[in-house]
Amino acid sequence: MTHDVIVIGSGAAGLTAALALAERLRVLVIAKGTLTSGSTAWAQGGIAAVLDAGDTFENHVRDTMVAGAGLNRRETVEFVIERAPHAIDRLLELGVPFNTDGPNLHLTREGGHSHRRIVHVDDATGWAVQAALLSAAEAHPNITLLPGRACIDLITGRHEERYSGSGRVWGVYALDEASGKVEAHTARATVLATGGAGRVYQFSTAPRGATGDGIAMAWRAGARVGNMEMMQFHPTCLYNLEVKNFLITEAVRGEGGRLINPRTGKRFMAFYDERLELAPRDIVARAIDSEIKKFGLDFVHLDISHMPPDFVRGHFPTIHDKLLGLGIDMTAQPIPVVPAQHYTCGGVMIDLDGRTDLPGLYAAGECTESGLHGANRLASNSLLECFVFGEAAARHILAHWDRFDAPPPVRGWDESRVTNSDEEVVIKQNWTEIRRFMWNYVGIVRTTRRLERAQHRIRLLFDEIDDYYGHFRVTTDLIELRNLLQSADLIVRSALRRHESRGLHYTLDYPESLAESRDTVLVP
Ligand code: FAD
Ligand code: SIN
Repeated sequence: MTHDVIVIGSGAAGLTAALALAERLRVLVIAKGTLTSGSTAWAQGGIAAVLDAGDTFENHVRDTMVAGAGLNRRETVEFVIERAPHAIDRLLELGVPFNTDGPNLHLTREGGHSHRRIVHVDDATGWAVQAALLSAAEAHPNITLLPGRACIDLITGRHEERYSGSGRVWGVYALDEASGKVEAHTARATVLATGGAGRVYQFSTAPRGATGDGIAMAWRAGARVGNMEMMQFHPTCLYNLEVKNFLITEAVRGEGGRLINPRTGKRFMAFYDERLELAPRDIVARAIDSEIKKFGLDFVHLDISHMPPDFVRGHFPTIHDKLLGLGIDMTAQPIPVVPAQHYTCGGVMIDLDGRTDLPGLYAAGECTESGLHGANRLASNSLLECFVFGEAAARHILAHWDRFDAPPPVRGWDESRVTNSDEEVVIKQNWTEIRRFMWNYVGIVRTTRRLERAQHRIRLLFDEIDDYYGHFRVTTDLIELRNLLQSADLIVRSALRRHESRGLHYTLDYPESLAESRDTVLVP
């Protein structure tokens, strides 16, 4: 089926783009699983924006670049931060019920921010944002929402009926997850908004579908990717043997939470950074990792029980209730926490209009490398990036619409040489193996030797998974496994190229930062 524009992904980036495009164009939004299964719905802390009279754009720019260890592109940082107040106004218009403080929005604080500047809806900001965007999209006559479709590969000139071999993107092949049939969806322009690749790690706060699909699809189609070694680990994921990926928002530390070594009973951040618990994430995560390794711990404690119980319950109702259900009363007890993968800072390279290297392909949100985050994302800057680049990509498409040709006839999906799999166990085995060696060899602290070990395993798995992919009908699990492996490969190759420690990439073989900061750009 042909549409004006296809948006792949129904999170903050995808729906922002779709709503802006729908002012004049017919938009198809495709999503894997349900429409709320991306990271957006899970966001807790909030959205960073300069709204306080004592704060300035320059402060926010500086905090973003300090957290990003100077790898950020200043032009992008300014572009995004200056548009943040407008993005918040737009969300208010859509009905997002941000917390208030008298006549103003309530601003909370998170690590790396020199001022209070995080707008939020209690401790469940993402759910409120997702719901508001989705209800606006559902009500829009120009938007068609198509959940339950796992996109497999972008359609390019190579798939035209009259083969052109060009890199022009004309849409996407997608698996209907209910019927098992593969459909070709074509359009004049395509926007990738598929989120991150966090599930490449054994422990991650990201949802099940964060398998780097968009990054892998763009790479296979010929787009460059950048800074994939910069995988962010959040310092405080709940340590619980049953519930493995529940985030404890950084705002708990912003509102006074302290990190304690359960063996010594002492606060330990003073040994690592003068900003204590509010140092940027990479520093706090490495400090926790170091305490855990030094003292042979399973976890450290995050303690906010010294604050009044009503204050704690009032600020963190969702986390409070979730923990109570697990037998932890955070108003009276410390919370056991460990670092876990949280955010993919690198991704598909885009410019300020959301354009990728490939004609007809735009991208926005966590699947991109826009230059905003550099070597480490500042807390609550990522939803903001989704709103700003979702809008920027849409505005560029609208402004140049007369230059977008109609898609040519393209080839259908060829299933003539595949059969149903009789070895699903291969998928589970490989999925588990990738996530485990990525955690152990490509985690918070790296060495060249460990990276090479990971690379060796990736090469073996490429052969096995390509063989499997060539013989059996696609399923969502197989699509995700193929993309997970591709993402792991891009992360490891990027990490091996960086001969320094900077931000999230910390290696014992090159512990110092080089004088000049450079992006790691991989060219297909
Ligand atoms: P997502 O919201 O992840 O959406 C991706 C979409 O792409 C989904 O609809 C998915 O179904 C679709 N998709 C993926 N692959 C395919 C495919 N193959 N075919 C079809 N569709 C596909 N950031 C902040 O700024 N503030 C916070 O407080 C905050 N808290 C967070 C808390 C948690 C627990 C997590 C995990 C992240 C948090 N983040 C936060 C990060 C932020 O939530 C994400 O970076 C952001 O929501 C990403 O939005 P997105 O639109 O790029 O992608
Ligand atoms: C959090 O609430 O700690 C997450 C914020 C973010 O990822 O930006």
